[in-house]
Amino acid sequence: MSRTVVSVAGARPNFMKVAPIHRALQPYEPAVRHIIVHTGQHYDYNMSELFFRELGLPQPAVHLGVGSGRHGEQTAKILMAFEEVLLELQPDLVIVVGDVNSTIACALAATKLHIPVAHVEAGLRSFDRRMPEEINRIATDAIADYAFVTEQSGVQNLLREGWDEQRIFFVGNTMIDSLYFALPRIQERPILQTLQLAPQSYVVVTLHRPSNVDDPEQLEQLFRLLQRISEHRTVVFPIHPRTRKNAEQWGLLSFLHRETIHLLEPLGYFDFIALVARADFVLTDSGGIQEEATVLQVPCVTLRTTTERPVTIDLGTNILVNPHAPEQVWAAVEALLAGKRKTGSIPPLWDGKAAERIARIVVEDILQIQQPVQQTVEHVRE
Ligand code: UD1
Repeated sequence: MSRTVVSVAGARPNFMKVAPIHRALQPYEPAVRHIIVHTGQHYDYNMSELFFRELGLPQPAVHLGVGSGRHGEQTAKILMAFEEVLLELQPDLVIVVGDVNSTIACALAATKLHIPVAHVEAGLRSFDRRMPEEINRIATDAIADYAFVTEQSGVQNLLREGWDEQRIFFVGNTMIDSLYFALPRIQERPILQTLQLAPQSYVVVTLHRPSNVDDPEQLEQLFRLLQRISEHRTVVFPIHPRTRKNAEQWGLLSFLHRETIHLLEPLGYFDFIALVARADFVLTDSGGIQEEATVLQVPCVTLRTTTERPVTIDLGTNILVNPHAPEQVWAAVEALLAGKRKTGSIPPLWDGKAAERIARIVVEDILQIQQPVQQTVEHVRE
């Protein structure tokens, strides 16, 4: 009898986490049928479809087409639509990844139907409940059955919250699996030539956190900072739709009209990684980019007061800087411009094999399917 596993992909950072899991489960077909459900939280071509193509993901079997909306509205729409899908598919396991609204909505729908839920990237905590993602992380982990964890801090957080050790699996980072998948493929991307950039001559910037971009004064202050940086390095800024929308509305985009600022549409995964890999440093408020920069050994200045990924600071190239204190940010940037760079090492199990570990645990421990695993695992490695 075939067993069904549904993975949920909703927003851009989910796609890189689901893709390696899909690949790693393929050798277990037909004993395990893996189905991808796209909630439609992100829907623009270059926020979604392009990622599916590059990561070699099949078209999602189900697309909920939910789109944007306020938190309650978006979460509720996903919850309702996903419940319908679950009633029809009756899966044996639902895998949710990350911390976006799709993650909590789908975990909730599944658990109410008594369908086991596995959370990939469980246990991360910023301890800042004003971040919507922190609420999504806490709530998802409160109801999930199995936790796949990327770093030791996640294990400690879950144990403190009363999780049973038997259900916590420290497996590494599927986002880094995708990074290793991308690395051989970025060589042929002409993005540096197209933008006429020499390696290490530019800074990559991303901004989309509500605390940085939903307040006009804060966003203006950050754009002024980018102007200041652009006097020393070319700034490459693929702007998130949320940030663009706000900047347009408040008339702030003119701050970025400079020869040494490349304001770009959101980039595909390979182009983005190609840029980060050769950047002098990265300035970001993203979660995942802190991890990617750590593995690429590129210094990362994170414009936040907290991080749910402390290993990127303890072992990696990341530093946190308060985005509401412009002089502190400038001091951090100045140090980098002067060549004072933080070096780091790659965190444990961030080796490109996290999804293989997850697939093996899903098949053997969770679904308890007996099969000649040795052979299939070798197959995954090829
Ligand atoms: C979401 C996640 C965040 C993640 C980020 C990565 C939540 C609560 N937040 O934030 O954790 O780091 O994705 O990108 O789930 N929009 C478009 N086109 C799209 C998608 C969004 O124009 O394809 C616009 C929408 O109109 C909306 C805004 O971007 O106004 C925000 O989208 P939303 O998915 O709600 O949150 P993000 O800010 O993208």
